[in-house]
Amino acid sequence: MKFFIDTANLAQIQEAHDLGILDGVTTNPSLMAKEGIKGEAAILQHYKDICEIVGDGDVSAEVLSTDFASIIEEGKKLAAIDSNIVVKVPMIKDGVKAIKWFTDNNIRTNCTLVFSAGQAILAAKAGATYVSPFIGRIDDSSWDGVELIAQIAQIYSIQGFKTEILAASIRNALHIVKCAEAGADVCTCPLDSILGLLKHPLTDIGLAKFLEDAKKM
Ligand code: E4P
Repeated sequence: MKFFIDTANLAQIQEAHDLGILDGVTTNPSLMAKEGIKGEAAILQHYKDICEIVGDGDVSAEVLSTDFASIIEEGKKLAAIDSNIVVKVPMIKDGVKAIKWFTDNNIRTNCTLVFSAGQAILAAKAGATYVSPFIGRIDDSSWDGVELIAQIAQIYSIQGFKTEILAASIRNALHIVKCAEAGADVCTCPLDSILGLLKHPLTDIGLAKFLEDAKKM
């Protein structure tokens, strides 16, 4: 399973990259706004900066348009920033149409705001590189996000779809473990959830004892 970090914060991206386990980055308009990125030039430059940090990793850059022609125009501009840019397109009618166009023109896509298996089938039919089910937001509305990942994984495997399942809207370390179990190809997570995987009290207790005993060596 690949690990992406879900942020537009350069310091956090650098920290995850330095850990040596980072395969890519996802961003969205809310995450970009949180970093104070405003205006087209600043947006394009910020994506460039992210690509420089992650090197070979994929970087999802989201279009802000919702009609076919503007999505295509915007997506082409984003894809021209760097070969690692993946154009993130919302799961709407014009979005599906645009994903098919990008697929036919060798531009990789991440279909975002996916909340059902039906939407995941459409994204795969259009040839999306990644499909992003938002599992945390599903859990927030008392449905089961991890169950959706398992359902999509089963459908894609039966049907032979090549689209990779990118579990998004991760809220904690347990989500990452459960998504790995359910067949996600990628988890995109906040830094805290990635670091949460490190935690176990027996590791801390065991290390403290080893370090104490090491003094007697
Ligand atoms: C996915 O790519 C989105 O950026 C993200 O995972 C949304 O997460 P949220 O529900 O925590 O906003």
